[in-house]
Amino acid sequence: MDVLVVDHPLAQSRLTAMRDAETDSGAFRAALHELTTMLVYEAARSFAVQKYPITTPVGPAEGTRMANPPLIVPVLRAGLGMADSALALLPESSMGFVGLARDEETFEPRAYMESLPGDLSGLPVLVLDPMLATGGSLLHCCKLLVDRGCTEVIVCCVLAAPEGVAALRDSGLPLRLITASIDEGLNDKKYIVPGLGDAGDRQFGGMPRF
Ligand code: PRP
Ligand code: URA
Repeated sequence: MDVLVVDHPLAQSRLTAMRDAETDSGAFRAALHELTTMLVYEAARSFAVQKYPITTPVGPAEGTRMANPPLIVPVLRAGLGMADSALALLPESSMGFVGLARDEETFEPRAYMESLPGDLSGLPVLVLDPMLATGGSLLHCCKLLVDRGCTEVIVCCVLAAPEGVAALRDSGLPLRLITASIDEGLNDKKYIVPGLGDAGDRQFGGMPRF
């Protein structure tokens, strides 16, 4: 599995704002929006393009457009905060949704929503979830996509734990991972350390569980 860690200073400064426990939810969401733009920008570097003729005010030129814009799939709740930034960069894309909540005892994902096209053959999919911890949630989502015929899944996440990266890699699914950091590991509640806490709660509110 191809893994890219986006270590650009602008990406790392947004990540720092998100990690800081003093950052309020408005500033956290703003940093997530900006960081997502950078992650998706890097993810899109290898997207297929189509050349086509255009005319500038001065004369003919060659234009470039996405040959096959990906389906964008945010994993609810926390991935919702990444959706707008991705769609702004890829306005031709469509969007699907997967809703997952991790059980606090078993750490297994519980699926509560799925809104995806039935046939994904020939369509790349860009999955958005800020956190890759044990990997259970993203694996669940990626399996749904591959079961529908998808052969190219690009996962953008803010933070990854080595355990989650290994789980994705060992799955053998056709994945590529773009992240801003691979952190030290997981604590006994399966939160990423040092991490940033609960990405859903930090955006939308809730009780700390770590
Ligand atoms: C978070 C996060 C991932 C998942 C990561 O969501 O957004 O989807 O946990 O954990 P994993 O890799 O161990 O599966 P959560 O289940 O807390 O739901 P939320 O987005 O509604 O807060
Ligand atoms: N989900 C989160 O939101 N944060 C973690 O650190 C792990 C799972």
